[in-house]
Formats: sequence, structure tokens, C-alpha cells
Amino acid sequence: MKFLVINGPNLNMLGIREPHIYGSATYKNLTDKIEAFAREAGYEVEIVQSNHEGVLVDTIQAAYGRFDGIVINPAAYTHTSVALLDALKAVGIPTVEVHISDVSKREDFRQISYIRPYCAKTIAGHGFDGYTEAMAFLAGLEASK
Ligand code: DQA
Repeated sequence: MKFLVINGPNLNMLGIREPHIYGSATYKNLTDKIEAFAREAGYEVEIVQSNHEGVLVDTIQAAYGRFDGIVINPAAYTHTSVALLDALKAVGIPTVEVHISDVSKREDFRQISYIRPYCAKTIAGHGFDGYTEAMAFLAGLEASK
């Protein structure tokens, strides 16, 4: 299994930004956790973070034919970006949407996710565990093919 993990804007500020919502662990703590999980499970993983919507679109496009699964936390672009939805549809790779916080219990503007209709699953409110749960889910999908 080869996974691409994509993180959107401001997730590089984890540990600093709104710790009462996102916790005090850093972005480096997150990438270390994802890499350790992948290593133990024997998966390959590439992790990308960008604050720029176009870079995220380019990253998804470049994944075409190269990955078995995408785990994506588009952060604020979740609630605004048709371009990310279209990019995911274009490459056709099984995808799980992840949010660290429970967006369903937050502001109205966070209730819309443009990518959700494409995603096989959404995991929200499980903190950093959501990312490893997403990888395990995608591996299960692949195994049941
Ligand atoms: C987030 C939730 C989004 O609403 C927010 O814009 C983020 C992070 C999360 O992981 O909980 O930046 O995607």
C-alpha cells in the first residue's frame, strides 16, 4: 500500500494555533505519528502540507496512478473548494477525509464539505488518530477488492 497524506492551510501551525481545539501537539508530531504507523504496517507514505489551494490541486493531480489511497485534511479549503473535489474525481484514487476537530459540532460554515461526496469515509474529531484510522480503512478497502 502506498499512501499520500495531504494537509491544507494552517495545519503547519498545529501546536500553536487554537490549542483548545487542535491540541498542543505539533505538525512534526503528526507527521512522526503517520510515518511510524506506516513503517510498522509496512506501508509507504508521502506527506504533503501546503497553504495554497493550487499546490494542493497540483499534488492531487501528480498522485494519478502513483498511490493506492489518499488521506486528506483540506482544512479551511474543505468548506470552499470545488477545485479539490474536481481534482480528487479526476485521479480516481480512494480517499478518506480527515478533520482533527469534530467539525459537526462547530460553526455553520464548517458544515459544508465539498470533497465529502467523493470520499469513501469522513473521520472527524478523533484528533491525530483520524489519520492512522483513515490509512487502516483504506488498506481494508484494498484488501477486500
Ligand atoms: C480542520 C477543520 C476545518 O474547519 C479548519 O478550517 C481547519 C482544520 C480540522 O482538522 O479539524 O483548519 O480541518
